[in-house]
Amino acid sequence: MHIYKVGGAVRDRLLGRPVSDIDWLVVGATVEQMQALGYRPVGADFPVFIHPRSGEEYALARTERKSGRGYGGFTFHASPDVTLEEDLIRRDLTINAMAEDDDGTLYDPYHGKEDLERRLLRHVSPAFAEDPLRVLRVARFAARYAPLGFKVADETLALMRQISASGELQALTAERSWKEIERALMEPQPQVFFEVLRACDALQALLPELEDSPHALAGLEQAAQHDQPLHVRWACLLRELQPATIKAVSQRFKAPRDCQELAILVGECLSQCNQALELPSTALLELLQKFDVYRRPQRFDDFISACEMDARARQGSLAYPQADYLRGAAAAARAVDVKPLVQAGLTGQALGESLKGERLKALTAYKSAAEG
Ligand code: CTP
Repeated sequence: MHIYKVGGAVRDRLLGRPVSDIDWLVVGATVEQMQALGYRPVGADFPVFIHPRSGEEYALARTERKSGRGYGGFTFHASPDVTLEEDLIRRDLTINAMAEDDDGTLYDPYHGKEDLERRLLRHVSPAFAEDPLRVLRVARFAARYAPLGFKVADETLALMRQISASGELQALTAERSWKEIERALMEPQPQVFFEVLRACDALQALLPELEDSPHALAGLEQAAQHDQPLHVRWACLLRELQPATIKAVSQRFKAPRDCQELAILVGECLSQCNQALELPSTALLELLQKFDVYRRPQRFDDFISACEMDARARQGSLAYPQADYLRGAAAAARAVDVKPLVQAGLTGQALGESLKGERLKALTAYKSAAEG
């Protein structure tokens, strides 16, 4: 039995990037031998084991990664006579198809190191097409390594186009697609993910709504440059769509609740944020009430950030005084103390109305102070 380090760990070490988790490949072993050594199988049909102490994944060398039944919807053929080269040729990219043994010897039958040096994302073989999710993976790697100058190889882009045309992208589960989208959104240049998807016609298949959204990517780029969290990035991406479409897209990918919620609110209220300085205090109060800023101040802050990223994307690096103004307004409304009203004996609806009245007064005072 031979054990190799494979995939991302080898790639990122050669790139001089931090290695987060290590995947191991086991050649020449049977399921029974692995179990006898104490490795725990991750599932009945899938030849992957967890090391009893390190918790790292050890996969038996295998061929065939076609969609079907089994772990994550795949079928595999694993056997002790599958060689290292046979396993590696079925992987997605040459830069992900390198292996390293104990003493640091590199096995690179498909020239991944050369492609790393040439900054090329190139598929290993026609087996790439066995898993349509790889179209999204390549786009995600392009977004991650864009700052290093990586590009998708022409022949790989052509193959990705064929996969888009085959209709198989629509058959990907929401969970698998979202996992890639989520990771791509958090990369340093997430707009590249969508540019690559567009270039291979996958955007049309997966997120056709974005085709008529000319500012989406610039807003997302700003959000990434300002280290915004996932839900703000998602909101920036979808902000030109109608709220009902934002909801439908978010639900189609089963995006987490906070992503969906913020994106819809941005779709609904972005123009109010842009016009914040001109809003009468009643409209300011309505906006704050809509966001329930008293109980959920962070969500309002994230809304302002998303609107600011969008404005910066459209007007260059001009200042966006609306952001501080709205944060100040939220603070003024939140500073209204409910205690004196309760002590005055108010309850229920009367208390609610009074509180609203006090907040309106606070906002009117804030507004006139801001106007100087
Ligand atoms: N792999 C593949 N096709 C897929 C998923 C994975 O060929 N659809 C192979 C690649 O060789 C990859 C390895 O399995 O390098 C490990 O996959 P994964 O852990 O998902 O990705 P990493 O390459 O480690 O990348 P990341 O840094 O994004 O985790």
